[in-house]
Amino acid sequence: MKERKGIILAGGTGTRLYPVTNVVSKQLLPVFDKPMIYYPLATLMLAGIKEILIISTPEDLPRFERLLGSGSQWGIEINYEIQPAPEGIAQALIIGEDFLADSPSALILGDNIFHGAGFGVKLNELSLDSMRNLTLFACQVHDPERYGVAEIGADGRLINIEEKPEDPKSNYAVTGLYFYDADAPKFAADLEPSSRGELEITALNNAYLKHSSVHVEKLDRGHVWFDTGTPESLSEASQYVQAIEHRQGVKIHCPEEIALHKGWVSSDKILETASSVANSDYGQYLTRMVKRHNSGHY
Ligand code: DAU
Repeated sequence: MKERKGIILAGGTGTRLYPVTNVVSKQLLPVFDKPMIYYPLATLMLAGIKEILIISTPEDLPRFERLLGSGSQWGIEINYEIQPAPEGIAQALIIGEDFLADSPSALILGDNIFHGAGFGVKLNELSLDSMRNLTLFACQVHDPERYGVAEIGADGRLINIEEKPEDPKSNYAVTGLYFYDADAPKFAADLEPSSRGELEITALNNAYLKHSSVHVEKLDRGHVWFDTGTPESLSEASQYVQAIEHRQGVKIHCPEEIALHKGWVSSDKILETASSVANSDYGQYLTRMVKRHNSGHY
């Protein structure tokens, strides 16, 4: 199997976070101590994915490029493409077709945050699994009508997904992380726009369900998932990150730390970054983290 490549979709209008999103992309807003996009980026890195495409609006893409650069600081490769208009999440796979070049993919929404014990190991395993055509990640929520909802049979098999149903068939939301085989751009190109004019990700996933093997990975209560698209969820996610980091003294979803841990960059490279931002909490953390790593007390 070719190596899985990652796509982060970070466009859209962010109107639910108006007024700040009039002047700044939602996915650049801080979630406690890091820009929102660091979290999905770290999730892909934890899955072992090193080639990543960021898709955003024509106005915002240059800002992501300034923030994240080529990715070489983390031993990865970051590419950039424009989505001219928000015509649906599934369009990301059409925009990304040349980048993917027949590789399997992991698509993640730029406002989705995942965290939990052993999640990185699980992601790595699932990323390497070439038997399934599509792996979805579902999480129990109290307000399923806000999401794509998975109807799951007694045998654990996925029956259908409904987008924002009035009468949800379960409490399992389909999260914004999708592992596709190499056929996803072709399936996406066959979709018709929905009544709201979008290429719906739920339509793509239901098309897979008809033709291929789909696996739903249920995230149990040891895991958290945030879709940070509203003021409440953004604030909740920030508080969660702050509480974990404060109690444990370690940062979560720090790309430098993941890259060092995976052996993708040297300690010296991270210390270089740290010294250029030594007056920030983030810079000081990087220095402490490298020391801890080098002393073997991890
Ligand atoms: O977060 C998980 C949910 O994401 C899933 O459960 C739903 O099935 C899926 O449709 C999606 O629902 P949302 O209501 O969150 O979709 P929204 O239109 O808000 O788009 C999600 C993110 O993707 C948002 O940050 C903006 C970005 N986006 C969206 C569209 C439609 C783009 O960058 N381009 C687009 O064309």
